[in-house]
Amino acid sequence: MQQEGQSARWDDECHHPDYKEINVASGAGCWITLDNGRRILDAASGHSCVNLGYANEELVEAAAQSCRTLAYCSPEHHCRPVTALSGTLSRLLGGGYRLRYAATGGGANELAIEIARRYWRHKGEPEKRGIIALDRSYHGSTGSASFASGPGILQSPHVDRSEEFLHLAGPRDTVAGLSRDLDALRRGLEARIAAAGAQTIAAVIVEPVAFAGGVIVPPAGFLEMLAALCRQQRILLIVDEVITGFGRSGQWFAFQHADGVRPDIVTMGKGITSAYFPLSAAAVSEPIYETFLLPGNAMSKVITMAGHPVGCDVALKVIEIMERDGLVARARTNAERHLSKLLSLRGLPAVRDVRGLGHMWGLEFSGTHAGDGAAVAREVADRCFEADLLVLQADNLIRLNPPLVIAEDELEFVVGTLMSAVQAASRTS
Ligand SMILES: Cc1ncc(COP(=O)(O)O)c(C=O)c1O
Repeated sequence: MQQEGQSARWDDECHHPDYKEINVASGAGCWITLDNGRRILDAASGHSCVNLGYANEELVEAAAQSCRTLAYCSPEHHCRPVTALSGTLSRLLGGGYRLRYAATGGGANELAIEIARRYWRHKGEPEKRGIIALDRSYHGSTGSASFASGPGILQSPHVDRSEEFLHLAGPRDTVAGLSRDLDALRRGLEARIAAAGAQTIAAVIVEPVAFAGGVIVPPAGFLEMLAALCRQQRILLIVDEVITGFGRSGQWFAFQHADGVRPDIVTMGKGITSAYFPLSAAAVSEPIYETFLLPGNAMSKVITMAGHPVGCDVALKVIEIMERDGLVARARTNAERHLSKLLSLRGLPAVRDVRGLGHMWGLEFSGTHAGDGAAVAREVADRCFEADLLVLQADNLIRLNPPLVIAEDELEFVVGTLMSAVQAASRTS
């Protein structure tokens, strides 16, 4: 029974032992302030999305101005913010993409999966519906996006699954502490495709770095291998850049670290508006888009809030600020100068691995006794929190992805505090 004065919100996630149960009152820059006045540096960028920090006046003003000009436009009409953002995003992706919008990262992946399946139907191959994804991937919590997500990642065991979604061992098993090299990954994918039959597979969906799954940075050449194999087997490649996009990897999009890879579909969300407005998108390469122009093939699917003009104006402002302030290059410099210092923790007994790219870093713990990595990770997160630093903990993993605007002294605080916490937890484990 609900007690008097108790929140009526369905809030069981808030009580999860991996999350800090806090009440956030406000935010400014990289800091959140709790309802009791305590300030904490948010090295999780909210939910990996507040890339330009809190209370960014330029973004607030862009949203307000956009609301005043055109508070809403039906997806059935044209309007300047949507047209302008589509051109800008296609340019950042290297040109030749068409943009379709949604409101969440999961929604963008649902669009991508539906577009891939319809593309093959347009080509006269309706049986190509299967989707291959990686075991520790996360693509969203609704419909197809949740079916594509690896079992167990951020999801309840009670989530619905679908046999049209096939999962494959990825570059790292963070429970067993096992890495797979490029050859093993190629063989695994070839075997999966052969078993199902390429004539039944529409697309492979992959995160360039699986952040939720444990900041899994694949071996060099991974995306190139996937792209070549997909092309050879006539399977589309969907790259999920919902977390890795917008500079977080040290490139505008993380697939741009790979040599000559041009995904068929790129999905994005989160940092696109730095979380100042819900917006996401699927960028679809022209040859796929063109099949939708044939008579009877139009997508004919409207999401009321998708491609909201205010969100598009905020996204344009985010991109303007990032280009003006050189934030993509800064993510690389921050990694080289500061975040890579975490690598020195590798020798400690409790630390099984440290890895990262750009502004996404992860620590994997084994503990000194088998099976207690989660307890060490929790102790690290607790020690950080006591020192006013919020990092993400799940199972035996600590993850962090601070806002791209973080100042050097703040980064020193993040790295120094985390290193001290790991050293102390390593001694007690
Ligand atoms: C790689 C990736 N894809 C998709 C999503 C889902 O995004 P949303 O929660 O906005 O639906 C997430 C969310 O964490 C993500 O990390």
